[in-house]
Amino acid sequence: MTEHRHDLVILGAGSGGYAAALRASQLGVDVALVEADLLGGTCLHRGCIPTKSWLHAAEVADHAREGSSMGLRTSYDGVDAAGVVTWSEGIVDRLYKGLGGLVKTSPGLTRVEGWGTLVSDRAGLGVQVGDRVVRGRNVLVATGARPKTLGLTIDGQRILTSEHALKLQELPSTALVIGGGVIGAEIASAWRSLGVEVTIVEALDRLVPAEEPDISKALLRAFTKRGITTRFGVKVTGATAGANSATLVLDDGSQLSADVVLVAVGREPATNNLGLAEAGVTLDRGWVRVNDRLMTSVRGVFAAGDVVPGPQLAHRGFAHGMFVAEVVAHQLGKLDISPTLPRDTDLPRVTYANPEIASVGLTKAAAQRMGEVTSFDYPLGGNGRSLIKGTSGFVRVVRLVDGPIVGVHMIGQGVSEVIGEAQLVTGWEALPEDVAELLHGHPTQGEAFGEACLALAGRPLHMHA
Ligand code: NAI
Repeated sequence: MTEHRHDLVILGAGSGGYAAALRASQLGVDVALVEADLLGGTCLHRGCIPTKSWLHAAEVADHAREGSSMGLRTSYDGVDAAGVVTWSEGIVDRLYKGLGGLVKTSPGLTRVEGWGTLVSDRAGLGVQVGDRVVRGRNVLVATGARPKTLGLTIDGQRILTSEHALKLQELPSTALVIGGGVIGAEIASAWRSLGVEVTIVEALDRLVPAEEPDISKALLRAFTKRGITTRFGVKVTGATAGANSATLVLDDGSQLSADVVLVAVGREPATNNLGLAEAGVTLDRGWVRVNDRLMTSVRGVFAAGDVVPGPQLAHRGFAHGMFVAEVVAHQLGKLDISPTLPRDTDLPRVTYANPEIASVGLTKAAAQRMGEVTSFDYPLGGNGRSLIKGTSGFVRVVRLVDGPIVGVHMIGQGVSEVIGEAQLVTGWEALPEDVAELLHGHPTQGEAFGEACLALAGRPLHMHA
C-alpha cells in the first residue's frame, strides 16, 4: 500500500502553524497539523491572551482606585490572584474551543497529536511522530519560541518567567523584573496596578528600547509617577532563590532582593530536538534561515513565525502561516496569484502597559536614512476623549517630505485601538493630505491621529503647526 502523502505537514499548532493549516484547508490543500501540546500555542495559552487579561484586570483596579476623582464611590480592596487566573482561563478556554471547532470542521485538515521531528530521506519529506512518519510534499516548521533564561535557575516559585507570572495564585509584595522590554513593561505595569512594589533592571539606558526614544521617555515618566522603580545600564549576572526571597547580582557588584524575580530578557527560537539540522536545515544560533518565500535551505521545508528572525509577534505568525499555505497552493495550481509576504515594518506593534504604546512603520531616525522627513506630535492633552479617559501621551506621525506617512508612534491609554488605522495608512503609503480629507468621529482618540495628519498637511485644526 502506498503511504498517503499530504501536500503540507505543519509542525506546531501555534499562531503560525494553525493559521497555515486553516488557510491551506480553505485553498483545498491536503494538510496535516502536528502538535504535542494544545492547539493555539504560546499566544493563546501562555502569552498574549492571559497577559492582556491580567492587564485588563489591572486597569479595572486602577479605575476602582481612581473612581473618586470623577465623583464615584469606588475603592480598591485588593486582588485575588487565583480568581484573576480562573477568569483569564475562562477566556482562553472559549477561544481554545472556538479554534478547536474551526480546525475540526476544516476540510482536508488532519490533526496529529504528538511530538514531531523533521524527516528527509529517500522517501522524501515527512514528520516522524512516535513510530509513524507523516509524509508531506512540503513541511512547515512553526514551533515558536520560549523565554531566554540568562542561564539562571528558574524554579517557578521565586525566579519566574512570564509563563509562571501569569499563573501566580498569589501576588508578591515586591518584585524585580529583569528586562524593560515588552514583557517586562507589561507585567511590571499590571503588578504595580495590583499593589506590587516593582523594580525594573534594564541593561540598556531606557525602557522599551525598540521604540522611539521619546516614547521610552514618556513611559519612564508615567512608570515613575506610578511608583515603579527603574535601574538602567546594569546587567544581571546571577540570581539565587532563598526560602523567603530571591536575590539578583548585578554587573556593577550590587545586589537587589525581592519576593520574586521575573526574567523577561527576550525569547529564543524553539528549534532543538526537531531534527532540523540533521535534515540539512541551516540554523543560525537556533533561528531558521529562510529566503523571501520563507523556504529554508531544504527545498520544500518552510518556516514561519518566531523561529524566523524578526519581530516575535503573533500576527506576524498568522501572516507567515497564511503566506506559506498560499505558496504551496500556488505551486499546486490551486491559487492563481503568487502571494506577497508582508514586510516586518508594516506590522503594528503594541505594548499593553499603562500607558499603552502602539507603533507601526519606521522610527524618525530610521526614516531619516530614507530621505528628508518631517513629523508632528499631537498631544493627547488636546484630545477630548483622552482627557475623559484621564490619559496623557502623544501621537507622532512621521512622513517623508512631500511623501507618504512612514511611521506612527503613540503612547497613552487607548492607543492600541488607534493602531488599526495607523497601520492601514502606513501599509497603503498614504499621504497626510489623503488622511486629512477623511473625517474622524468626535470625540475619539483616532482624532488625535487625524489632527497630526491635518497638521502635516498644513491645515491644523486644534493646534498651530
Ligand atoms: P525584549 O527583547 O522586548 O526585551 C528584553 C529586554 O531585556 C531588553 O530591553 C534587553 O536590553 C534586556 N536585557 C537583556 N539581558 C539583560 C540582562 N542581563 N540584564 C538586564 N536586562 C537585560 O524581550 P521580552 O520583553 O522578553 O519579549 C520577548 C518577545 O515577545 C519580544 O520580541 C516581544 O515583541 C514579544 N512580545 C510581544 C508582546 C506584544 O506584542 N504586546 C507581548 C509580550 C511579548
